[in-house]
Amino acid sequence: MEGPLRLGIAGLGTVGASVVQILRRHENDLSAQAGRAIKLAAVCARDRSRDRGVPLDGVAWFDDPVALAKSDDIDVFVELIGGEDGVALESVRAALDSGHGVVTANKALLASHGVDLALIAEAHDAPLAFEAAVGGGIPIIKALREALAGNHITRLFGILNGTCNYILTRMEEDGLTFGECLEDAQRLGYAEADPTFDVEGLDTAHKLAILTSIAFGTRIDKDAIFVEGISAIEPEDIAAADELGYRIKLLGVAQQTESGIEQRVHPTMVPRDSTIARVSGVTNAVAVEGDSIGSVMLSGPGAGGSATASAVVGDILDIARGIKVPPLGRPAASLEPYRRAKMRAHEGGYYLRLMVRDRPGAFAAIARCMADAEISLESIVQRNRPPKSAPRSHDDEAQAVTIITYETTEAAVRSALERIESEGQISGKPNLIRIERL
Ligand code: HSE
Repeated sequence: MEGPLRLGIAGLGTVGASVVQILRRHENDLSAQAGRAIKLAAVCARDRSRDRGVPLDGVAWFDDPVALAKSDDIDVFVELIGGEDGVALESVRAALDSGHGVVTANKALLASHGVDLALIAEAHDAPLAFEAAVGGGIPIIKALREALAGNHITRLFGILNGTCNYILTRMEEDGLTFGECLEDAQRLGYAEADPTFDVEGLDTAHKLAILTSIAFGTRIDKDAIFVEGISAIEPEDIAAADELGYRIKLLGVAQQTESGIEQRVHPTMVPRDSTIARVSGVTNAVAVEGDSIGSVMLSGPGAGGSATASAVVGDILDIARGIKVPPLGRPAASLEPYRRAKMRAHEGGYYLRLMVRDRPGAFAAIARCMADAEISLESIVQRNRPPKSAPRSHDDEAQAVTIITYETTEAAVRSALERIESEGQISGKPNLIRIERL
């Protein structure tokens, strides 16, 4: 039997403590599966005195993650510190340079430095695994990189942020506002330390950037992603979507088009009876479309200590078994540069909510702007105006109008909206939500 695989874990927050718990709870079974013992040799965290509810007797304590990463007493460095740069990056680099395997749940780190880290890992023949970085407990990295390798992938899309899906689900089910639902998500521990990362779509973008690279064989380019979050979604949009037979989800989409690969993160209307529409709460889901398989979807818990730790432990076991695959699915030096498809060329249907001024001819003017931009309308609905008896301020004179377009381009919609705004037919900013073809 091979010698034990010695682990050094840096970061004992929710995920780190859950990893220790799983290692303790399944110690015998994990060792039996790996054919060798898996031993927690050392940990590193800021506060030694804090009770994390997990036994750490006999485990060496490091104050400096970089020292742990380089230590000769470990074989695998488990990075659960978080953050795009700083000590997380320094320690992962140090571990790989020392020839140690690395397991990380750090999507921001991978989205920014994934290709460089894969090059270092490959140069040192050291495994670099990051299943937990995308979709929490869902094994999407392994599925894309290994099980779906016999496919030319044309599109992938997913709900990649539990916080946003939780908020949108609660807004829909309980008629609450965005702010009320965000507070609940924070209280339940789903959101990042800075929830802007969740609700403005950046967390989804980081995860999408990693998936795109593996699915399409391109270098990771998180800065080329079109990103819109969910903070502008109002209960009126949720209600209108429902009436029209849709649900609103924050999707990350990567899609091969004639002009390149689209990477976009935005609130999306999906048909209410589609599988992705039924993914609710903190659950994540990723659908992959390939020429051999057609379409496949994985769903499961996308956030939370135990689910994320499940993916971390799976990666540890792969390394214990000696399984080695290029971190990004092919040698990092052979990844193609990412060729970005322009967002203005995006094709799809659109939902628009406009506050239209209550004056004769406003509807006709809006319809003309749409027609001139060659946009065909599927529906145009004036929402209920407040009762006449209710006091009406100047702005109340605007009526909410929702428009659903047939397939068109982003450029056409943008130009029609600019003209509608410049002609003074609407007050405030239009709300635009893209409809995904499923
Ligand atoms: N804040 C993230 C989410 C956690 O809500 O999905 C997992 O990345």
